[in-house]
Amino acid sequence: MKIGVACDHGGYILKDLVLEAIKDCGCEAIDLGTHGTASVDYPDYAARALSLLQNGGCERIVLICGTGIGMSLCANRVRGVRGALCFDLYTARMSRQHNDSNCLVLGGRVTGPAVAREIVEVWLKTAFEGGRHQARLDKIDTLADMVSTDK
Ligand code: RB5
Repeated sequence: MKIGVACDHGGYILKDLVLEAIKDCGCEAIDLGTHGTASVDYPDYAARALSLLQNGGCERIVLICGTGIGMSLCANRVRGVRGALCFDLYTARMSRQHNDSNCLVLGGRVTGPAVAREIVEVWLKTAFEGGRHQARLDKIDTLADMVSTDK
């Protein structure tokens, strides 16, 4: 499995260990920057990873900013992307089992390196349960239409 990884300066502190954790799980990690601590705009780096995902260049992506919030906002604007901001192993596991998350979001200023590494491992190794959860995910794709016509 190929995993694209992108961060801004706030997430840079976690990027190398995320790349390493991905490789240690037997996956291919694609480093999409940023490559230092200079200030950059997180949507620009989200766009790199989201484009790669949408074009089929990878199966999943990891986005990292300071809090994880900005990258989450970016990810969940894109149809078919299920971005999950995870802070612990439980949310990481559930994001896969129930939400079929294809985009893990981490906050470099709120999650420590050891926890981040384990989150990545759990997120990569946990399977989607399908069933009733798939039906719920299907409803997400029609959510905008449902809300705009439900007057
Ligand atoms: C950058 O200072 C910071 O705003 C960004 O990394 C992220 O936390 C935004 O949500």
